[in-house]
Amino acid sequence: METMGETLHSDTGFKIEPLDKTFGAIIRDINLKELEENRFEALYSAWLDYGLLIFPGQFLSKSEQMAFARRFGDLVEELKAVHISNVKPDGSLRDAPDDDMMKIIRGNMHWHQDSTYMPVQAKGAVFSAQVVPSQQGDTAFSDMRDAYDALDEEVRTEIEELSAHHSLEYSQRLLGEETKAENSEYLGYGMNVENVPLRPLVKAHPETGRKALAVGRHAFGIPGLSEERSKALIDSLNSFAVGDDRRVYQHRWTAGDVLVWDNRCLMHRACEWDFSEPRVMLHSRIAGDPIAEAAINDHP
Ligand SMILES: [Fe+2]
Repeated sequence: METMGETLHSDTGFKIEPLDKTFGAIIRDINLKELEENRFEALYSAWLDYGLLIFPGQFLSKSEQMAFARRFGDLVEELKAVHISNVKPDGSLRDAPDDDMMKIIRGNMHWHQDSTYMPVQAKGAVFSAQVVPSQQGDTAFSDMRDAYDALDEEVRTEIEELSAHHSLEYSQRLLGEETKAENSEYLGYGMNVENVPLRPLVKAHPETGRKALAVGRHAFGIPGLSEERSKALIDSLNSFAVGDDRRVYQHRWTAGDVLVWDNRCLMHRACEWDFSEPRVMLHSRIAGDPIAEAAINDHP
């Protein structure tokens, strides 16, 4: 893992090793299964600063992960602790290209923020590795605060008042990965959302106030712009956001690793791996604040 070689010591005893990036830190000397309240408070404050915390060697069970994630906020009902995996419940591998779960996994290999296509965007997620492939299968993150700060003044002014719609149906269709959601283990989370959410392209973080760019693969249809201009602008903002190594970190997983990211200021994507090898991840999605993360067209 990349670090600046500079280790900070929390007053409550754990070590913080910032990544050599604009965000992210590795946390050591901590046991997530037994975390006193004052240590959690220090950890939460580091999470707001760094956006991504990495805890090697934690090996959390499903219930331990849910308990840890729950400390950051309520969990999304359907996604309290779900396997994101190419392994079926019977142990065999999902190899059919038209398997709905694989379509979602392939879709998530494109940059996004979680649940922006829902009425309330997610606050964050705890993500851990149970079975990792012999190579690849990383998860990449990008710092949308730094992306916003790095924009030209002209672009910043152009997008300040703009919003985009967000839809999982749109983004999956664009990739030719439409799910059937019938006779499928994919529960259809995020599909058939009645009032397609509209979200500002510039998001002020509800806790830190820091501005971040908010786009990703689910964004489309900026009101006031032609379809063509809207797509060109979103594509260019997405490319710009991930176009500087300083603000992109790719995590190579080791079984037992636990990550927690702030979905309000980072984008992420799954990276390719050989689907003939199993990869089993456990995802716990932290629900967004119903006011701060609500779509702007979702108020009665
Ligand atoms: Fe995701």
